[in-house]
Amino acid sequence: MTSSKKPLYVLGTGLSHDGSACLLKDGRICVAIEKERITRRKHDGLNDTAAIQYCLDAEGISLNDVALVVQNANFGMLKHGNDWWYGPRLLNNSLPVITISHHLAHAYSAIGTSQFEDAAIIIIDGCGSGLDDCIDLDGAIVTENPPEELRHLYFEKDSYYTYKNGKLTTIFKDFSPSGASLKGYPLYPPTTMHSIGGLYLAVSMYVFRGFEDPGKLMGLAPYGRPGVYDFEIFELKDGRVYVRYDWMSNFDRPCRNPEQFKDNFQYYADIAYWVQREVERAILYVFNSRYELAPSDLIAYAGGVALNAVANRRILTETKFKDIYIHPAAGDNGVAVGCAYYGWLEILKKERVLHSGSMALGKPYPAQSIREALATHSSSLKYSEEENSVKKTAELLAQGKIVGWFQGGSEFGPRALGHRSILADPRKPETRHFINSNIKFREDFRPFAPSVLEEDVSIYFNCNYTSRYMILIADVKPEWAKSMPSIIHEDQSARIQTVAQSISPKYHQLLCDFKKITGISVLLNTSFNRRGMPIVETPEEAIRFFLNSDLDLLVIDNFVIYKGAVKDQKHTNITDKFIQNLRAALENSFAVGSGIAGTYRFDITGARAVTIDLSTDNPVIVEGVSSTKSTAIIEIAESDIDDFWNDPQGEGLRLIQDGKVKINGPQGKVMKLVNSLRLV
Ligand SMILES: [Fe+2]
Repeated sequence: MTSSKKPLYVLGTGLSHDGSACLLKDGRICVAIEKERITRRKHDGLNDTAAIQYCLDAEGISLNDVALVVQNANFGMLKHGNDWWYGPRLLNNSLPVITISHHLAHAYSAIGTSQFEDAAIIIIDGCGSGLDDCIDLDGAIVTENPPEELRHLYFEKDSYYTYKNGKLTTIFKDFSPSGASLKGYPLYPPTTMHSIGGLYLAVSMYVFRGFEDPGKLMGLAPYGRPGVYDFEIFELKDGRVYVRYDWMSNFDRPCRNPEQFKDNFQYYADIAYWVQREVERAILYVFNSRYELAPSDLIAYAGGVALNAVANRRILTETKFKDIYIHPAAGDNGVAVGCAYYGWLEILKKERVLHSGSMALGKPYPAQSIREALATHSSSLKYSEEENSVKKTAELLAQGKIVGWFQGGSEFGPRALGHRSILADPRKPETRHFINSNIKFREDFRPFAPSVLEEDVSIYFNCNYTSRYMILIADVKPEWAKSMPSIIHEDQSARIQTVAQSISPKYHQLLCDFKKITGISVLLNTSFNRRGMPIVETPEEAIRFFLNSDLDLLVIDNFVIYKGAVKDQKHTNITDKFIQNLRAALENSFAVGSGIAGTYRFDITGARAVTIDLSTDNPVIVEGVSSTKSTAIIEIAESDIDDFWNDPQGEGLRLIQDGKVKINGPQGKVMKLVNSLRLV
């Protein structure tokens, strides 16, 4: 018998950096999306209109169908109303809206999606809510007790809870003051003092100039040498982590551009090695200390620090916790999920509905919309709709083809898990370099991760655990090391994804078919994006990426797509040349003139971005999107770059008038920049 009962929707929304929205339908996630996937700006956050609208559209409902909204803004509790947050919001006064503090939202993201019934929960990140905003202090050990007027200057850095019989209890919360007072050091913590996440972010910004994910530091670490730095960054006492700041003055060579990074690779790698080891030491200390306060066999873990896959293995193998669940979107992108679950479990007091385990929470695209997207590029590609696209893909992968693999809804979280992936045969040693330089345009040191059939994982890896979200590492068995050179890191480890039939049946089948042909059930799996850009979301974005890269094949659901005889002009060369010319122009004794200081982002054909950062004493040009707010964002097609730049007053203005170049921000400043920074 079918029920005509109206579904009960709870909307969770995250208003931090890495913003997102998540919709629960009768206690189950029906859709969730990170804002960056829609706006195409990496780590985009704050205003939540785009993310909420995406969720409502995917479900075909309006806000009036939502019973409850729960939100988290990290800084502040939106005490002045819910209709404005860095721009107008969709929420209105007729909707019940609850605001919760930051670590509590992270905690519920872990509870909501874990398979554990009862467990301890730990949250570690760079910076959470202010002490005065926290609503989870009751009965807990709270490390700081500043006077009332200073409470807003102390922020969450780690929190420990237990979850038993549906009840969350706060055990321990550590706070530290803001790190702004140390701004004199190149390595100053941009967030909370003494926080592991803040330190990691600071070092990442020092090494990479902050334009990339802090996770890159983890990838660089194995190239560093032990013993180059050996003093302790952290002082660990009384169950708390303190960052010692006395060593910072020794570090005065922050990376300013990619060339400097390349020329000083060993220097930065040695720092990464040392910091990674120290961070692992601090994380293990926190886990061990919290265990003693409230022992538990199982632990659920979230917060940005939980993205450290190398430390995660050590938690699993070296602490007293017997099993760990790590939220796949452990950073602030996950707080919307936690908000939604808080609403369902804590406000509405509903039964917990076990999560399916799948993180493919984006909306699927109907076959007709894929056909329409393909039709707009019909002169550049040919395609067929195949009943057995999986088998066909496995055959082509085994022949050495590199494949864009787009299936159903996108993954929620930073890792591609077989829905928006670039896949390749892991056996060819040259594949890693080829994908890094011709497809993803990123540094060669960056490793690729393997997907492996879950039932086969112990054949290839020293591993007796699952890693469904690519958030744990394992060592490759020596006898397989030579067979899979493109997915093994410098230290013989790999950040594995174990693929379960119950969670990803199609991707599982692909690995099975690949195994039938090649004898191995492992594929190289990297996210479907270029360096500095968010993962592709729509079929149109995937097709454009395909046509402008050296991918051999694109598979969107059951559509198998090849490049046609008439190739699109290679975008890589034009944009690469543009970046090169800009850098040369900047070095050509360019001085930031009055009125143009700021950060300018050029989004080129929606697939690549170039940021010109003139906001500091050391202006730079970087491929990718700056974490700082842009003064202006300029959308431009690659084919228009030359005309726009060479003749700003004539062709440039015409392109703007025709809507071919869109400027979001002060046009006068942008034109001044173009006039001042003449390409060489
Ligand atoms: Fe956080």
